[in-house]
Amino acid sequence: MFKSATDILEAEHVFILKVVAALVAATEKLEKGGDVPPETLRQVVEFLRTYADKFHHGKEEAHLFALLEKKGVPISGCPLGALLHEHKTGRALVGAFAEAVEAYAKDRPSGRARLAESMKPLAELYPSHIWKEDYLLSPMTGKVLNEADQKEILDKFIAVEKELGEDLHRKWEQFAENLGKSL
Ligand SMILES: [Fe+2]
Ligand SMILES: [Fe+2]
Repeated sequence: MFKSATDILEAEHVFILKVVAALVAATEKLEKGGDVPPETLRQVVEFLRTYADKFHHGKEEAHLFALLEKKGVPISGCPLGALLHEHKTGRALVGAFAEAVEAYAKDRPSGRARLAESMKPLAELYPSHIWKEDYLLSPMTGKVLNEADQKEILDKFIAVEKELGEDLHRKWEQFAENLGKSL
């Protein structure tokens, strides 16, 4: 059982990083002229949109960042403004990746380089974003929020998971766990 909301976020980061590691390996494969299955890449797009953005960034933005702002942490500047900006950048990069996947699915030889290039910025963004959250956001949250706030935010996170579907949540974690084998 998770003790705090940031424990939940940090556990989810591990799954996002597993997907990023698989993308790095897939990029190397493509750059050596190899192929990766477009259907699996489409699922990666779906993982990034559903698990990483809707479930994970959704909890951060709607609940944690909102409560931190209420407690006096500025929503612009460092760290919240920077993190929000990176969420936005991530959405744009996933959009470009999704388009590159479809171009590659249509024509592998001409789509291969574009696909590899579309995955590189994602593989750079997520680890550095997650580092900031684990090492700056989490400790700051521990200082700013009192015990009642922590309980409130943890309850909200659990409610979000129930609302969006615990099964779906687990399904995507299983996907992240096994992705290395299928890319
Ligand atoms: Fe984030
Ligand atoms: Fe995060």
